[in-house]
Amino acid sequence: MTDRILIIDFGSQVTQLIARRVRESGVYSEIHPFNAIDDAFLDAYAPKAIILSGGPASVTWEDSPAAPTKVFDMGVPILGICYGQQTMMEQLGGKVETSDHQEFGRAHIDITEDCALFHGVWDVGTKEQVWMSHGDRVGKLAPGFRVVATSEGAPYAAVANDEKNYYAVQFHPEVYHTPHGAQLLKNFTHGVAGCSGDWTMSAFKDQKIEAVRQQVGDGKVICGLSGGVDSSVVAVLLHEAIGEQLTCVFVDTGFMRMGEAEQVVSLFKDHYNIELVHVNASDRFFEALGDEFDPEKKRKTIGGLFIDIFEEEANRIGGADYLAQGTLYPDVIESVSFTGGPSVTIKSHHNVGGLPERMNMQLVEPLRELFKDEVRGLGRELGLPDSFVDRHPFPGPGLAIRIPGQPLTPENCDILRKADAIYLEEIRNSGLYDAIWQAFAVLLPVRTVGVMGDARTYDFVCALRAVTSTDGMTADYYHFDHEFLGRVTSRIINEVRGINRVVYDCTSKPPGTIEWE
Ligand code: XMP
Repeated sequence: MTDRILIIDFGSQVTQLIARRVRESGVYSEIHPFNAIDDAFLDAYAPKAIILSGGPASVTWEDSPAAPTKVFDMGVPILGICYGQQTMMEQLGGKVETSDHQEFGRAHIDITEDCALFHGVWDVGTKEQVWMSHGDRVGKLAPGFRVVATSEGAPYAAVANDEKNYYAVQFHPEVYHTPHGAQLLKNFTHGVAGCSGDWTMSAFKDQKIEAVRQQVGDGKVICGLSGGVDSSVVAVLLHEAIGEQLTCVFVDTGFMRMGEAEQVVSLFKDHYNIELVHVNASDRFFEALGDEFDPEKKRKTIGGLFIDIFEEEANRIGGADYLAQGTLYPDVIESVSFTGGPSVTIKSHHNVGGLPERMNMQLVEPLRELFKDEVRGLGRELGLPDSFVDRHPFPGPGLAIRIPGQPLTPENCDILRKADAIYLEEIRNSGLYDAIWQAFAVLLPVRTVGVMGDARTYDFVCALRAVTSTDGMTADYYHFDHEFLGRVTSRIINEVRGINRVVYDCTSKPPGTIEWE
């Protein structure tokens, strides 16, 4: 069996980066919340090593989150990070205290002793840059541990128990601002835990195909195609796993981009010969949304209607036992809240939240542990063309969450669709498409006065958004040159009736999100 690392999550906003770094080093890893793990799970998962994540709680609180006791009886290496370090110390007989000297952001630590985590990376006597984010700190070490690095705010910045192969750090090796962090994690997974680093996307594909076969048996599966990369990868993976047991349903919500519906139908029907039901449901979506313009309610309504339509289609084909979805890891993390104070819900992405209880199908979500770029790798493994796999992400609710503050109508969707198509065409023509994570137009509810020809206009404002990102969790706005922005602006205003002003969004994430809603 492939080596597996278990990451126990205490709710840090950056836990998923731990999984990412571990997988980048060729080791499979999964994240599970601390309160969703029992002894049977630990036995079945059989981790080669365990990493305890950071988190927003304080060990000094009553009933603070803790690692299951069995974790320390399994004889496997453990690495505690930030809160993970603190709970580890407390649970093993040390003490954590609330400190006056908080550290947030860049910090420097002194490497005081040799340690397996540092081999080939940091030498004794050097000062190294790390990223810290803590108020509490370890005040007394658990028995068997020694200090290997210190900082002003954290006298126990890194500690080791060589006999047990337990290591713990106050800083966050998983973030970019700890420049050698990935190597430290690799020293833990490969050096200390002895993982071979042979995990690849091709192995993941085979594993998932097998897992889908196991889960589904001879049941029927219905898969919702949105036109995006994720659901397409799910569909092709499932087709490979279970062939004709799969029926894909493409629901045209009316919120698709220009030409999207035709592309999806041709790819799946003609290229792959996958059973595809094409439902044009735009009238139903517009009617269900009515005058609603609260983003969360729009998502819930769209998600709910999606499920209704799936159910209808499932019934039409004589029933399905499973519904397959392209839920990704960032969707899971940003949408899930669990007790113990973990990540707050920012948006309930419709493909995770809001599934009505009455839904009679179980979920198949083979991409749940993957990041976007990993999904692309998987798509390539499955033979999807690069031009398809490398397409920008597109949210399930589509244009419906890009028309804020006004009721959705076929007319305003049409206006936005045209502007968006021009923008993307210019980006492609300039050779910028692959340098950008996601680019799209937003139709604002504001009308402004303009002058075209000799006439006064009073039309909508269109905002352009383009961001760079590696995983959609954080993003920077794309720095277009002004000449490009000017060209797109005049094309949109000249070619799209209904828009007379164009603005560019220079907000990063955080504090903004990528979508406007
Ligand atoms: P935000 O706006 O949260 O977006 O920074 C991060 C990524 O998620 C996409 N997104 C969604 N995807 N359903 C989806 O399937 C949704 O409701 C949704 N909202 C945002 C967004 O396009 C970006 O890629």
